[in-house]
Amino acid sequence: MNVRPLSRDREDPGRFEADARFAVEAARWAPSVHNTQPWRFGIGDRRISLRADNERRLDCTDPSGREMMISCGAALFTLTLALRQLGYAPRVRLLPAPDRPCLLADVDVDVPAAAPETVNPEVARLYEQIRERHTHRGAFRPGQVTAGLPALLQVEARREGVTLRVITDTHAQATLGALTGAAEHLGRADPGIGAELFRWAPAPGDRRENGVHPDTYPRRAERTEPDFPGRDFARGQGWGTDAPADEPAEQPSAGMVVLLTTPQDTPADWLRAGQALQRVLLRAQAEEGVSAAFHTQALEVPELRGLIRTRLCDGDHPQMLMRLGVAGTRRKSVRRPVHAVVHDDY
Ligand SMILES: Cc1cc2nc3c(=O)[nH]c(=O)nc-3n(C[C@H](O)[C@H](O)[C@H](O)COP(=O)(O)O)c2cc1C
Repeated sequence: MNVRPLSRDREDPGRFEADARFAVEAARWAPSVHNTQPWRFGIGDRRISLRADNERRLDCTDPSGREMMISCGAALFTLTLALRQLGYAPRVRLLPAPDRPCLLADVDVDVPAAAPETVNPEVARLYEQIRERHTHRGAFRPGQVTAGLPALLQVEARREGVTLRVITDTHAQATLGALTGAAEHLGRADPGIGAELFRWAPAPGDRRENGVHPDTYPRRAERTEPDFPGRDFARGQGWGTDAPADEPAEQPSAGMVVLLTTPQDTPADWLRAGQALQRVLLRAQAEEGVSAAFHTQALEVPELRGLIRTRLCDGDHPQMLMRLGVAGTRRKSVRRPVHAVVHDDY
């Protein structure tokens, strides 16, 4: 990503607006469920507000808006990371107005900001990963992550008040894979969930700037052991990309299975889970070029989510289920432009 030079005149309000747009430009690259990009930003006097865009909520797949909030939390973390990269010290207030639940966060910044040389190199390192990170779908290469990475990622999640649970027991892994499969079957039989896939998973050649496009998922995902079925973005149409011809015929791996969990299950917990998610993803990418494959289908079925909570999370609330590993392919997704996500209704 481009690193913009810091402004010489930090008191200039026009300069703040330009810096805020720079931060929003970065925030757009956060992951979001079905690539709905359910966020709106308002730029005010030394403040950036983040709102949920309820029009983009998946009413059948995600009726409580939990995954919409996780997506917005990931965008919030990315926004503040970009502000830090510019030398600001952002202060975040989550859900600052209880009577306006769509207002998810106010991010305030002061002048003077830090001089370029004082920007923490760790901030720069994570910032550089924002455009490098991509969702992976399918198997990972064998070999995988080093023994030290899980503990590092657990520290990152903990910094946002979230627990990252590494599922090492093979029976627990198999249970999560099977529940993912069960949820996927239930979803395929549900017309409402199907209609949402129809809306958010366009056909090949569609040029829209949101949704999950066929060039971001494999036509046929390799089976792993245990297997974690993917979402049916192609809906039986045979869409998706083929594996590169030079792809080594190694034993495919499911990767490291992890859950992000929170002690409570409030909208603030969902936002924090999203902040932790992006922090973990950027750290994993920075440290070892590790990417994530998400499988949140089972967490969208209340009975299955309850089972995962009580049997595998010690009563904590599971927010994200994913596999981490080194991907053989990179599939780039799309985003709406900055002007489409910045609004005056701040
Ligand atoms: C809350 C949440 C749930 C997600 N669930 C899934 C999932 O079940 N399956 C999947 O393939 N991708 C899932 N994703 C990944 C999104 O589809 C992905 O972030 C989006 O398409 C943008 O692509 P990118 O992450 O490569 O930029 C999820 C992302 C979020 C934030």
